[in-house]
Amino acid sequence: MKINFVIPCLLGVEGIISQELKSLGAENITTENGRVLFSGDEYMLARVNICSHFAQRLGILIGSFKAQSFEELFVGTKALPWEEWIGREDAFPVKGYSLKSALFSIRDCQSIIKKAVAKRLEEKFKLSWFNETGPIHQIQFSIMNDIVSLIIDTSGPGLHKRGYRPVASAAPIKETLAAAICSLAKVKHYHTLYDPMCGSGTLIIEGALLAHNIAPNQNRNFSAQRFSVLPKDIWKHEEERAKSLIKKNTDFIGFGSDIDKNAVDIARSCATAVPLKGKLNFEVCDLKDFKPKSERGTIVCNPPYGERLLDADKARSLYRIMGEKFVRKHGWSYYIITPDEDFEVIFGRSADKRRKLYNGMIKCQLYMYFK
Ligand SMILES: C[S@@+](CC[C@H](N)C(=O)[O-])C[C@H]1O[C@@H](n2cnc3c(N)ncnc32)[C@H](O)[C@@H]1O
Repeated sequence: MKINFVIPCLLGVEGIISQELKSLGAENITTENGRVLFSGDEYMLARVNICSHFAQRLGILIGSFKAQSFEELFVGTKALPWEEWIGREDAFPVKGYSLKSALFSIRDCQSIIKKAVAKRLEEKFKLSWFNETGPIHQIQFSIMNDIVSLIIDTSGPGLHKRGYRPVASAAPIKETLAAAICSLAKVKHYHTLYDPMCGSGTLIIEGALLAHNIAPNQNRNFSAQRFSVLPKDIWKHEEERAKSLIKKNTDFIGFGSDIDKNAVDIARSCATAVPLKGKLNFEVCDLKDFKPKSERGTIVCNPPYGERLLDADKARSLYRIMGEKFVRKHGWSYYIITPDEDFEVIFGRSADKRRKLYNGMIKCQLYMYFK
């Protein structure tokens, strides 16, 4: 079965996702602002959910059309083949958003889409009432510049919920963003990776998963596991495929440290949930006492921004210390994400490269030093 998919993502990571999809074997990959479209079969549906390090969630694109009135929204929605995915007993709640479009009332759009899908299923199944007691097929709509896209979500909880971080320290970074930073830092299986302000250890753990090609979501469930139209074997097949591709016996080693003992305890406990015994080390250490343990290394870092944690002056005094500690030296590279536009001045050096990334709603730059 050929399926059209869509991955909504954080702004700035579309290219990274499209590279990853290529390596997973996806077809017809195209990127737009904040989403990546591609096609593949049922195995690809399971593969992307299990293996993607960067995707927020995976949706089946049921269709797209232009609508500027409720009538057009109803007719366009009803014309789509919902019965190919939603069975007689299944639940099909609707949610979504609208931006820069004539149809802007979310509640009205929600209720019209629901009615149109129900009408379509009523005609196909010859039913006049839906109990919706079966598996949830979450319908998500987006209306952008009057173009309606309708998807059925396959992931359930967001794909950043890997399962290894049940609790986090203050101001944790999203796992998918941490993975994207490690990808931009080109973290490899022979690297030594440091994060001297590691909090719950997300950057070190995501870097390690990436370096070993470990599928980040191999230990969680997805809503599409309950879709009756999907073959039952796809999940096991893809889990086994992913396991066979893990890099073993690597030289990778990760060191995370933080001034906060509670954060270090959380990082240690998160690290026990990933299959990399002995490779991930966490200790309490103030940045001012940070000393690398190797001749070469990569440092990734999500310092306090002076918003949620510390005030701006205190955050900036840490950027100054980072500038002193992260010296230009052969074999070393540094990747720091912050929204502070004066970061380079305070750090003391211009970055070799910068990349705009959103940390949630906060517009940040990833400052990269590798020369
Ligand atoms: C934005 S949080 C990092 C969150 C982390 N990336 C995660 O996913 O949990 C910044 C971290 O810097 C730590 N920190 C603040 N001052 C520090 C210092 N002087 N030395 C080391 N760590 C420090 C805080 O304890 C906090 O955990």
